[in-house]
Amino acid sequence: MLRRTSERDGHDFALAAPPRQLPQKVCVGGIGVEIPQSSISNEELVETFNIWVDRENTARAARGEPPLPRSDADFIVNASGIRTRHVYEREGILDAERMAPNIPARADDELSVMAEFGVKAAQKALVHAGAAAGDVDLVICAASHHQRPYPALAIEIQQALGTGGAAFDMGLGCSSAVAALHVAANLVRSGAHRKVLVVTPELITGHLNFRDRQTHFIFGDASVAMLVEALGEGESRPGRFEIVDTRGWTQFSNSIRTNFGFLSRLSQDDVSILEMEGNMIKQVGNKVFKEVTVAGHQFIVDFLAEHGHTPNTMRRFWLHQANARMNAMILKLAFGKDVGQDRAPTVLERLGNTAAAGAIIALHENHEDMHEGDFGLLCAFGAGYSIGGALLRMM
Ligand code: COA
Repeated sequence: MLRRTSERDGHDFALAAPPRQLPQKVCVGGIGVEIPQSSISNEELVETFNIWVDRENTARAARGEPPLPRSDADFIVNASGIRTRHVYEREGILDAERMAPNIPARADDELSVMAEFGVKAAQKALVHAGAAAGDVDLVICAASHHQRPYPALAIEIQQALGTGGAAFDMGLGCSSAVAALHVAANLVRSGAHRKVLVVTPELITGHLNFRDRQTHFIFGDASVAMLVEALGEGESRPGRFEIVDTRGWTQFSNSIRTNFGFLSRLSQDDVSILEMEGNMIKQVGNKVFKEVTVAGHQFIVDFLAEHGHTPNTMRRFWLHQANARMNAMILKLAFGKDVGQDRAPTVLERLGNTAAAGAIIALHENHEDMHEGDFGLLCAFGAGYSIGGALLRMM
């Protein structure tokens, strides 16, 4: 509200912020999770990596070059907490000649791979919500990598499901799903949409360099979806979460980056070649660890304080699933003490880092014991840097 005063009555112009109006109540009416059946253990991944390294080193020795270091399964579990990861396609990754998933190309008139992966999670979310596809009036496909720039995957998912209204793609690294929840919740709250389906198919092994010792063990594939719905006056949906508020934070960093894009080809003399390696995911893991730990815990404390909460008033935290030590450190800084699995469950031991899907899977698998009125915080962080949070209350 702009309070207009003048020099004559001795006041300056002043901008007094009105109390934040949240016109419509919003909930996560349903969640769907699709995890590929195939999995790869640290030992299997390291065995393939080391076969490749040994072969490379024979060639390097012949050229008088220094050897590449081998990977180590114990290092992986100690540094990250990850023991296995589920993957869309296993054999190609474990083939030391290939070290990439083998996913055949599909014709343009077939459902594309990422859209299909998204549809599987979306159908589960609709069943969980007890909603019909035709009731959905917006689909947002939010993932850290999109199979193509256009037509938007979200529109293909819209067609495959038979939803109405509109659809668009968006991305914000590992914060993509929570960022889309931020958009969806506020579109529903404003009355612009009634039911928004957020779909996050993370086929991240497709963009992972399995010959990079620093990152080859980090990621796994998973697809998730959430149906964000308006709540009627006085309506409650027992067992579902009201979205009390959402928040985002970003700060530019090159510490997690991919340079793969349509300009990559143009930097080469021979534009008929598209060199992938070198343009795939790279990260300075220990820098990310330190910087995101500091930013993440501050975000949590500040966001909760805006709502009169502290970490102690949260029954549960569903944090981004990148590193078990990192989550423990964020929570220790926020709480001032160690916090266990019951308060902040992890799924990364079994699934690896499933990018934007991870925190949603942690939520899906760890909420049924919560009681009416319990609060929880969904919080994702990753490339950008980016952080996204959603304060949830069990109805
Ligand atoms: N096998 C064996 N040793 C390895 C290795 C591997 N696969 N990868 C790295 N190492 C070695 C390094 O060479 C280094 O050796 P040195 O001390 O002799 O130089 C040592 O392990 C430590 O490397 P560092 O990179 O500091 O490891 P780390 O303890 O930071 O763990 C990550 C690496 C990636 C697990 C960790 O930094 C992390 O998870 N960071 C956060 C990532 C994140 O949250 N990303 C968010 C977006 S998805």
